[in-house]
Amino acid sequence: AACTPVALRAHVGTSCVLSALAFWWTRSLIPVISSKIPATKRGCDLLKRPVRSKIGEADRNVPESLGIVSGVALVCALVLTQVSTETPAFAHDYAAAMLCIVFAVLLGFVDDFLDLEWKYKYVLPPIMSLPLLSAYDGGTRVVPPKFCRAALLETPLGTALDAVIAPLFGGAVDGASGVVDLGLAYKIYMVLLAVFCTNAINIYAGVNGLECGQTYAIACAILAMSAVELGRAADSDNYDATKNHLFAVTLMLPFAATTLALLRSNWFPANVFVGDTFTNYAGMTLAVVAILAHFPIMLVLLMFPQLLNFLYSFPQLFGMRPCPRHRLPSFDPVTGRLRASRVNDRADLVPPHRDSFNLTLINAALRICGPLTEPALATILVVFQLLCCIAALALRFSLVGHVY
Ligand code: UD1
Ligand code: MG
Repeated sequence: AACTPVALRAHVGTSCVLSALAFWWTRSLIPVISSKIPATKRGCDLLKRPVRSKIGEADRNVPESLGIVSGVALVCALVLTQVSTETPAFAHDYAAAMLCIVFAVLLGFVDDFLDLEWKYKYVLPPIMSLPLLSAYDGGTRVVPPKFCRAALLETPLGTALDAVIAPLFGGAVDGASGVVDLGLAYKIYMVLLAVFCTNAINIYAGVNGLECGQTYAIACAILAMSAVELGRAADSDNYDATKNHLFAVTLMLPFAATTLALLRSNWFPANVFVGDTFTNYAGMTLAVVAILAHFPIMLVLLMFPQLLNFLYSFPQLFGMRPCPRHRLPSFDPVTGRLRASRVNDRADLVPPHRDSFNLTLINAALRICGPLTEPALATILVVFQLLCCIAALALRFSLVGHVY
């Protein structure tokens, strides 16, 4: 019953109205909550001042953690969507998604207030994704691309893979169809995806508007993809596919709306910082939608800039090179532009590598384009994100028939 065209339209319509409400709610509450953030929880906008200048109390004037407002608005919109539509098929997925998002908002907020060390940032996401794991009742089977499937059909390779994943993860390779049941390995992948998403957005940050901007671009891309797929699935009366894509649309609508509202206050010159509260729940929401709506590989393609930034950052993240507390670019007060930062710009680190560049995509963009103003840099990076998303969507819609 949830899939009749009338019910579909009602469901998407309700979600649109509630997303508009959530946008308005976030927009109006941000100034109210900002004014209540205590002085100790305000941050210094580092890219508005020379690198080694002393930071006084007066410089800490940008309220932190405003992701709490958009996060709560998102959860409210989701709850109301759930309440106002009759789709029992969703109840399970919605409950799991909301629990994970609430958990992520909560733990992100705790992180902001306690300033947790880096080791905890890998431990927390698996805990946050527990509701997802316990509620996930979808399959653990993946359909490999055609050429891989051919290589698995009744071949020694297929038998060998089966011999590995059966005892280790309780999985299996179906010799007749080439479909692989990953068993427990699929659940491990789900957790790793949550760890990746939350951290990847958090470390691709430091320029006004970038955290929200990248997230908004990815959310819009998922929305576009799911809307097209939803139309196709409804036309062909495919109940499961309709359910999945409808779930993605109704999760991404309020997510994009609340992120956009936050972006308005976080864009240059930022009135608020989003905090790890936002990066945490934004990453978690993306991981949740990709898993429950069954496009976990596509999400990694949409997050190509984050993947690139993570791989490029690897030596600094895992101690092969010194990693200062902040890796954001350096502000040149003479030209008013940003330039790529070196590991020793903000701290007195010991050699070796003291003069090497910080390994971030943001710095790489500055080295390629030359010094840029902060809004120009943020615009270039968000446009790059959009282009990557468009390329990923083009790949999906043009190749999918040939590859699968
Ligand atoms: C991550 C990055 C760090 C980067 C920081 C900035 C890694 C390993 N960590 O750390 O290199 O410097 O994010 O978000 O890559 N800030 C600005 N302008 C902005 C956003 C943030 O100046 O547009 C500064 C403010 O002082 C703010 C602070 O960054 O108070 C917030 O940093 P936080 O989110 O706590 O840093 P991490 O996530 O730990
Ligand atoms: Mg952060």
